[in-house]
Amino acid sequence: MKGIILAGGKGTRLYPITKVLSKQILPVYDKPMIYYSLSVLMLAGIKDILIISSERDISFYEALLGNGVQYGVNIQYSIQKEPRGIAEAFIIGRSFIANSSVALILGDNVFYGDAFYKILGNIGELESQAIVFAYYVYDPSNYGIVEFNRQGEAISVEEKPVCPKSNYAIPGLYFYDSSVVDKAQQLKPSNRGELEITDINKMYLYNKQLKVLPLDSKTKWYDTGTCKSLHEASSFVRKTQRKGKAYVGCIEEVAFRKGYISEEQLLSLARSNIKSDYGRYLIGLTTKG
Ligand code: DAU
Repeated sequence: MKGIILAGGKGTRLYPITKVLSKQILPVYDKPMIYYSLSVLMLAGIKDILIISSERDISFYEALLGNGVQYGVNIQYSIQKEPRGIAEAFIIGRSFIANSSVALILGDNVFYGDAFYKILGNIGELESQAIVFAYYVYDPSNYGIVEFNRQGEAISVEEKPVCPKSNYAIPGLYFYDSSVVDKAQQLKPSNRGELEITDINKMYLYNKQLKVLPLDSKTKWYDTGTCKSLHEASSFVRKTQRKGKAYVGCIEEVAFRKGYISEEQLLSLARSNIKSDYGRYLIGLTTKG
């Protein structure tokens, strides 16, 4: 399976912070926001990754992450000229995806939870299927929403409904078979002028190929697109890490635990961050710690 991180857009809900800075490079507590989405793809065992961002911002990500070899993955980059919708990622990434199944994650989403990590580890390749998640929210009009019947089967999906049929949001992490590219090419822009990811999910639902996995109450999900949620996500990461738990979104640790890099490589990554708590945490993961 291949993976795409969508890290474009104008970040206008965070103005003036994002007037001259890309949103997904901003810190969520102690690391750039994009680390969190990259770590999720890596936890799903995905090593071929395409980062899509705007012409203005793509160079930040190239400078930060390079070709990914230091994390044992392969990272490529593409430009989205205008934010024409999340589903455009599959059109931009068409040749990258080729005949593979693909995961798409929004670069401003933060996930945390043991049960969630376990699901990621079991996704594997997909044939004739899509997998998305459902997460209970109190402000359903801000998200793509899924409605379930009494048997727990998904029966409708709607983008930012005015009268939501449920409180279950679909977070910004989607797994699709390779037919998603054709599906994206069939899409027409919505009333707000975007190629909607929810319209892709509707196609899979219509074909009875949409699997919706509800996330348990211990799993945390943040869409860090506003100042409030960015702050909440940062506080959560700080609190969790202060408890002495594993760092959240630590790509170096994931690479090491997954066996993508050796202890020697981890040490070298740690040494390049040695003046920060982050670098010291990485050292602590090695036998030199
Ligand atoms: O976070 C989950 C939600 O994400 C889903 O529940 C919704 O169904 C989905 O539409 C999306 O809603 P948002 O309102 O959060 O979408 P937004 O336009 O803020 O875009 C999400 C991220 O994707 C953001 O970091 C910017 C990036 N993006 C967005 C668009 C439309 C791009 O890079 N290019 C784009 O064209």
